[in-house]
Amino acid sequence: MKIIAGNWKMNTGIEEAGKLAQAIAEKPVKDGVRAVVCPPFTHLQTVGAQLKDTDYALGAQNMSPYDDGAYTGEISAKMLKELGVAYVILGHSERREIMGETDALVREKMEKALKEDLVPIVCVGENLEQREAGKEKDVVGKQVAAVLENAAADLSSVVIAYEPIWAIGTGKTASAEQAEEMCAFIYEQVEKFVPGKTLPVLYGGSVKPENVEELLAQPHIDGALVGGASLKADSYHKLVEGRA
Ligand code: PGA
Repeated sequence: MKIIAGNWKMNTGIEEAGKLAQAIAEKPVKDGVRAVVCPPFTHLQTVGAQLKDTDYALGAQNMSPYDDGAYTGEISAKMLKELGVAYVILGHSERREIMGETDALVREKMEKALKEDLVPIVCVGENLEQREAGKEKDVVGKQVAAVLENAAADLSSVVIAYEPIWAIGTGKTASAEQAEEMCAFIYEQVEKFVPGKTLPVLYGGSVKPENVEELLAQPHIDGALVGGASLKADSYHKLVEGRA
């Protein structure tokens, strides 16, 4: 099973989002692929209405670790579920870097998502400086450990997305070998913390129709988390098809 998750980030107006979702929903998804669409919070209802009873699942880009109360500007897991959300991206590098999200917060959010039966897509990945210093495994190993080690929750539905920061939105994709090496490394780490369980590991960072086939052919890459190339129905369909 391959997972293709489209992360729209802070893009599209509401009308545009509805039309894009409608165009996406027109094409059935082939067996063995789980296609997920993650629009901004304000578009979830509109996009969800278009995707309802289709082959496409609805995802969100973030979530509060709290249930309810005085958390101005936050959105809870229960609120997402009411809108038909099934997946939630957590700890995206843009949230870690720009909004200051820590490993501890990402872990809290993941545990809450699991408790509420949302599938968490937990993002990890090194920046360029760390890669150039040869520290990518240290960094990613620590991020994976921080969310999985001694977790109280049942982790079987967790999805991990390896997204090297230097490859996000830069057009500079990690080579299939680099992506495979890190995803295989994540498999090994998962085995340490959740013995006997394999969790799907996605690659993200400038995935596009032209490189998706080679990436998905790697033994430890179970799908893709895609930003830019998920914002057009045609290109997203190609990603879901797994080829240009
Ligand atoms: P990109 O974004 O595909 O535009 O590089 C990926 C992501 O940030 O999830």
